[in-house]
Amino acid sequence: MTGNRTFTMIKPDAVESGHIGPILEKITAAGFKIVAMKYTQLSRRDAETFYAIHKERPFFGELVEFMTRGPIVAAILEKDNAVEDYRALIGATNPEQAAEGTIRKLYATSVAENAVHGADSDENAAIEGAFHFSGREIF
Ligand code: CMP
Repeated sequence: MTGNRTFTMIKPDAVESGHIGPILEKITAAGFKIVAMKYTQLSRRDAETFYAIHKERPFFGELVEFMTRGPIVAAILEKDNAVEDYRALIGATNPEQAAEGTIRKLYATSVAENAVHGADSDENAAIEGAFHFSGREIF
């Protein structure tokens, strides 16, 4: 059975380049309902915890620097088949491989600065959503 919620972040690069509005428009136009959202900035500790799974990767330091350099938008999105459908909407991690019309094709500039995050499983969507939001911030 597939779940109906996913977790996303609009990353510092897309916030800096003024793309919060167009990205939220793409998300809602694709049928996702925003059930939680906040404008915030990750501390170094937040980023190291959130991305702990990538701790041994050579790009971990760069990833933490990038994700903490400015504000982000964090959100929980609701739709049938949310995780899979949202990953299709954002496109491949590397924007050079992202399909036309996807959020990363439109707004990402590199594999590191790739505009948005999307949870890769129902389990991680729940963990990542709980990392950012308390129960009374989810509607
Ligand atoms: P995301 O898939 O949201 O979560 C892991 C992040 O690590 C990924 O987006 C990129 O921002 C970053 N990342 C993945 N691969 C690389 C890489 N080869 N070099 C730098 N950053 C990367």
